[in-house]
Amino acid sequence: MDRLLFLRKFIDEPRKIGSLTPSSSFLAKRMMKNLPWQNFSHVAELGAGTGTFTEQIIERKPTACKCLVVEQDFGMRQMLEEKFPTLQFDSYAEDLYNTLHAIHFPQLDCVISGLPFANMDQDLRREIIDNVYRSLKPGGFFVMFQYSLQMRRMLREYFPAVQTDYFLLNFPPAFVYLCRK
Ligand SMILES: C[S@@+](CC[C@H](N)C(=O)[O-])C[C@H]1O[C@@H](n2cnc3c(N)ncnc32)[C@H](O)[C@@H]1O
Repeated sequence: MDRLLFLRKFIDEPRKIGSLTPSSSFLAKRMMKNLPWQNFSHVAELGAGTGTFTEQIIERKPTACKCLVVEQDFGMRQMLEEKFPTLQFDSYAEDLYNTLHAIHFPQLDCVISGLPFANMDQDLRREIIDNVYRSLKPGGFFVMFQYSLQMRRMLREYFPAVQTDYFLLNFPPAFVYLCRK
């Protein structure tokens, strides 16, 4: 079901969706690795799609930890709202910083992203990374994946620590970026 919905959305808006299928569960688990989940009180997910990463976040986060899920597609967001009624939702990653204020979230411990940066223009990329950086508390984590190393330079302008790993158990294989503020 999720794959079909995802494919339909990709056919409608290929650049915004950015991939033919949801990420593999292997990649989702890899994205969550090496993070101190037990210490997290507020986290956000950007570009949630059909919820492959959301499911993994729910499994790991402490019960009291609040999670904001951001997805621009109305249909997918509606599906996620029904599936995960305890989470909070918003539409645009580029509004992250203002959204946190509006919903009374403090700065975040961690942001997980599935956004298709490769399909965005440079201004939108910067706007989103700027929002992520300002939304994180000092020491906060930003984890994202891309199919290239294209974003490394911009991330290094913001984050003192940027680590990249090539992960083969996904189609296509992906680079996982782990950044720390
Ligand atoms: C490559 S899909 C990843 C979906 C899911 N995280 C996964 O890995 O299977 C990218 C998602 O980002 C969403 N997206 C694209 N631009 C966005 C934006 N500016 N704000 C919020 N979501 C966005 C798309 O609608 C799509 O669902």
